[in-house]
Amino acid sequence: MKKLIIAIDGPAGAGKSTVARLVAERLGYTYIDTGAMYRAVTWDTVRRGIAVDDAEKVAAVARAINLQLTTVTGKTLVKVDDTDITDAIRTPEINRLVAEVSQNGGVREAMVHLQRQLAGLGGVVMDGRDIGTHVLPNADIKIFLTASIAERAHRRWLELTDKGFNVDLAELQEEIACRDKADCERAIAPLIQAADAVLVDTTYLTVAQAVETILQLCEEKSGVL
Ligand code: DC
Repeated sequence: MKKLIIAIDGPAGAGKSTVARLVAERLGYTYIDTGAMYRAVTWDTVRRGIAVDDAEKVAAVARAINLQLTTVTGKTLVKVDDTDITDAIRTPEINRLVAEVSQNGGVREAMVHLQRQLAGLGGVVMDGRDIGTHVLPNADIKIFLTASIAERAHRRWLELTDKGFNVDLAELQEEIACRDKADCERAIAPLIQAADAVLVDTTYLTVAQAVETILQLCEEKSGVL
């Protein structure tokens, strides 16, 4: 049976990673978290003491990065040079710096090249901001996953407080609004819904319901289940 390429895009906190990983698990596909790739470049930039606005040096970091993504027992492990940075890329500091790094044209070029290689011949679920519009325009299934900003901020707040960070919900909502604006208004590969993407609003959906909605679409389109 044909192995599909499934692209899931949407704003921060819409539940993309959780939903995309579960869809991949159900289909026996590989899950590729492209946000984690931009976060890893940001982490490597900070580690090397390079300022995130030094465009040339940051792009060089992206071109040289030795990045490994693996999914192990329901979690994506991210490694750079064999250092496990799975948790280190989800701190408030990286959240703050990653928008600038992901606006860097050289960084995007290097990451898109890697992403297309990773998508290979199919059997992948890739999530991000520009997957259906730019990285994999020929994807078999395109989903635009979203939720209200209040709900997305609340989810991020739960995720961070659960990890022991002391964060303020209102500040988090403000930060997500800023990130939405930066992601949507940037010149290169902005966050927009592809013309042929299906909109799935998860504000009032559980994770399981969102997963089932997408699997149903895959089944309707290609009979994969
Ligand atoms: O999905 P996330 O929060 O882990 O993404 C981190 C940042 O990377 C976010 O600011 C948007 C950016 N990003 C991007 O520009 N393009 C992608 N394909 C994925 C993420």
